[in-house]
Amino acid sequence: MRNFAFAFLLLLAIAVLLSAAAFASVNQNANSSTTTNRNQNDSRQITPPQQDFSKNTWELPDNADKTKNPVPTSEESIAKGKELYLERTKGNCVFCHGETGAGNEANLPRLRRKPADLSNKERMSSMTDGEVFWKITKGITGIMPAGEKRMSEEERWHVVNYIRTLAKEPAKP
Ligand code: HEC
Repeated sequence: MRNFAFAFLLLLAIAVLLSAAAFASVNQNANSSTTTNRNQNDSRQITPPQQDFSKNTWELPDNADKTKNPVPTSEESIAKGKELYLERTKGNCVFCHGETGAGNEANLPRLRRKPADLSNKERMSSMTDGEVFWKITKGITGIMPAGEKRMSEEERWHVVNYIRTLAKEPAKP
């Protein structure tokens, strides 16, 4: 009788061990499959190395500065240009250059490059309308959006006429 009880306990112990081993291996499988999943997810999340835009600059056609402005400056043209300058889905120049053209302080920390000061009369008068037009048209990849993607040619000339009104004489000391 004693032997019988002993054998029974032994069998019970073996059964417990076996089921524990089976449970552990199921667990291992579950773990290893989640790790492979995680690895797959990770590889999908890997982003390409950050592009470097710091050397990008204007790529304008030759003689861009010789292009003549076909839209005469008028109150109407300036008003249209202002609307485009401010409109988010159009020029959205205000996002970087600010309402005065001197720069949008609030957005400055988010910009890759400090925007040019469009209120700087000396600087702005050194550029022909044609040069300004082409800069607005082509932009700089990663730095300033190409205006031709969102505005017609005529609209871009209105913007040129408008930003001419932003240039201010430097304050007298
Ligand atoms: C994402 C920010 C951003 C937006 C939006 C933007 N600009 Fe610019 N802009 C810049 C930066 C930065 C520069 C200076 C680039 C350089 O010279 O390296 C610049 C330069 C310019 C220049 C050249 C000035 C110079 O002295 O050479 C003009 C003109 C100009 N922007 C007009 C505009 C107009 C008009 C719009 C709207 C249609 C506009 N920008 C939208 C960032 C922006």
